[in-house]
Amino acid sequence: MNIELSTITRDGQLIRPDVIPYILKWYKDYQFLLFDDFYPTDPQEYAQAIIEDIFELEPFFWVVEVNGEPAGLVYLNEWYGDGKRRHSCQFHGILDKKFQKLGIGTAVGKLILSFVFEDLKLFRLEGWLNPDNKAMIHLGKNLGFKVEGTLRGRKMVNGKPQNELILAIIRPDYFRKHKSSRISHGQEKEQTKTSPAPASAETGQ
Ligand SMILES: CC(C)(COP(=O)(O)OP(=O)(O)OC[C@H]1O[C@@H](n2cnc3c(N)ncnc32)[C@H](O)[C@@H]1OP(=O)(O)O)[C@@H](O)C(=O)NCCC(=O)NCCS
Repeated sequence: MNIELSTITRDGQLIRPDVIPYILKWYKDYQFLLFDDFYPTDPQEYAQAIIEDIFELEPFFWVVEVNGEPAGLVYLNEWYGDGKRRHSCQFHGILDKKFQKLGIGTAVGKLILSFVFEDLKLFRLEGWLNPDNKAMIHLGKNLGFKVEGTLRGRKMVNGKPQNELILAIIRPDYFRKHKSSRISHGQEKEQTKTSPAPASAETGQ
């Protein structure tokens, strides 16, 4: 199975309009995990807000492609640092149901970790999660994230305050646990020239 992370915007231009319908579907499927009561509810405004967000995330928004098929998305945001030195950020990701439980989340997680700690040389990567998100908590722990605590009532979802769990991995944890997960160094160099795409991986599937 070949897993690639592709950027879909470049220099403020949409270069992959074909994947927009998939992205809107994935966001809709997992709206309850990713958004709150303060995100637009009108479908048109909602889609517009997502597309604007993607442009703001450039160049740290990728579509996950599995054997050439759009399978999910992953992005980094909430940067801490300045224009010259970045210290930390958050990750977010969604896989289409069809592509879950096949080891793809693990492979993508390793690519992101390698990009964050080896290319960007950040100190910390974190995820703020719904405490019921068993899959992501399990996957995060497998990748070396630690549960650091709970932000009580941090979000409003469907009129109710909802806790958020903070998972984080710091640089020493990463280098203790992982070696570079990159498969093809040549390909990685080629891709980082045009966009900071964190390369690709092959799994045994
Ligand atoms: C979280 C998510 C990315 C995991 O991706 P995935 O490709 O299904 O994960 P993997 O197949 O690599 O499995 C990783 C581990 O999690 C476990 N896992 C997967 N789904 C699980 C579930 N629903 N409940 C408990 N554990 C689960 C797997 O068994 C595996 O554990 P193991 O390696 O110890 O056997 C995917 O489920 C998803 O997109 N969920 C919806 C969106 C979401 O929650 N995003 C995260 C918020 S930012």
